Amino acid sequence: MHIGVPAETRPYETRVAATPETVKKYVSQGHRVTVQSGAGTGASYLDDAYSAAGAELVDAPTALGAEIVLKVQTPTDSELPLLKRGAVLIGMLEPFNTENSSKLAAAGITAFSLEAAPRTTRAQSLDVLSSQANIAGYKAVLLAADLYPRFMPMLMTAAGTVKAARVLILGAGVAGLQAIATAKRLGAVIEASDVRPAVKEQIESLGAKFLDVPYETAEEREAAEGVGGYARPMPPSWLTRQSALVHERAKQADVIISTALIPGRPAPTLLSVETVQAMKPGSVLIDLAAGRGAEYEGNRGGNCPLTEADKVVVKHGVTIAGYTNLASMVASDASALYARNLLDFMKLIVTKEGALNIDLADDIVAATLLARDGEVTRKA
Ligand code: NAI
Repeated sequence: MHIGVPAETRPYETRVAATPETVKKYVSQGHRVTVQSGAGTGASYLDDAYSAAGAELVDAPTALGAEIVLKVQTPTDSELPLLKRGAVLIGMLEPFNTENSSKLAAAGITAFSLEAAPRTTRAQSLDVLSSQANIAGYKAVLLAADLYPRFMPMLMTAAGTVKAARVLILGAGVAGLQAIATAKRLGAVIEASDVRPAVKEQIESLGAKFLDVPYETAEEREAAEGVGGYARPMPPSWLTRQSALVHERAKQADVIISTALIPGRPAPTLLSVETVQAMKPGSVLIDLAAGRGAEYEGNRGGNCPLTEADKVVVKHGVTIAGYTNLASMVASDASALYARNLLDFMKLIVTKEGALNIDLADDIVAATLLARDGEVTRKA
């Protein structure tokens, strides 16, 4: 089959959906692979490496006009018309964005959105949310260390002792756990909070303290158990108690990394304006939910309403970073892992003989299929 790898064109996107390593595999399976010239440059994969792996270097219309198109982000309005009706598109296609799903369906594309894969053992090797969130959690700590005007580790010097930074992690999913591990390596003292009870042990095993907000009702406990491994919105009673605890801990914190998300819903507000006002001058918040939170003064914030998407701002003496694409800032490894996720997904829809075979009896194929034959096939 003809597999196309176009360059990504959205702002702040430097990743690419296939690397020379995965191109080589597709070619060895008998596919024709076309890569848009320059598609991998932002991730340090140069055209020569793709050619050496067996790809043809082409222009955007040729790559987007393939039978199977591999993308990082969902096509823009100028890219979409270049896809052929009946083509297969695989990428992070925003399964909860109903307007986008309708556009993909109207274009007659068979679209697979890998963010919708189930969180099962079998789906782990193609879990793009995990592969990219892991990188985002790591990079968030490095950015925090850069923006923080003090040391992270405790230091004893002839000129005096420097205290270790106190890091507060809100949301201990894939990104939060990697943030804990990375902050630990830098010598910080770490506390972390999550709604899901299962994470307590994981947080503690990484050497951080779990901030416990005990459940007081069966409703609170049930909501915290979540569904499919994901959090659900917590009852207001629990959120109020969590908010009071977070407020107290935020006052002591030097760095906060917030990663709390609920699929298909606005990210919860965990750090109020009053909490930011109470934080220490020079402290840093890296808000991984930037642009996905509730509306505040005409903007969508993150886990904090003061966060501004894709900006670093200083408010009430606190530096607030709202990067929306942290994985893209580690473009080479982010692309390498993402490209392997796609390679593994392709095994589910392309036979060893190289023919397309969309088997809806496969739970991963069924869950990720977003649009087909002009219809949106997945409920947001
Ligand atoms: P996510 O990115 O959707 O959310 C990040 C974190 O925010 C989650 O841990 C969530 O519980 C937390 N959160 C939501 N509301 C919160 C609140 N009010 N306060 C504090 N924290 C809040 O989650 P992610 O990282 O994608 O992971 C979801 C789950 O899936 C995790 O349990 C993870 O371990 C599991 N998982 C399972 C896999 C497998 O079995 N194959 C693979 C990857 C993840």
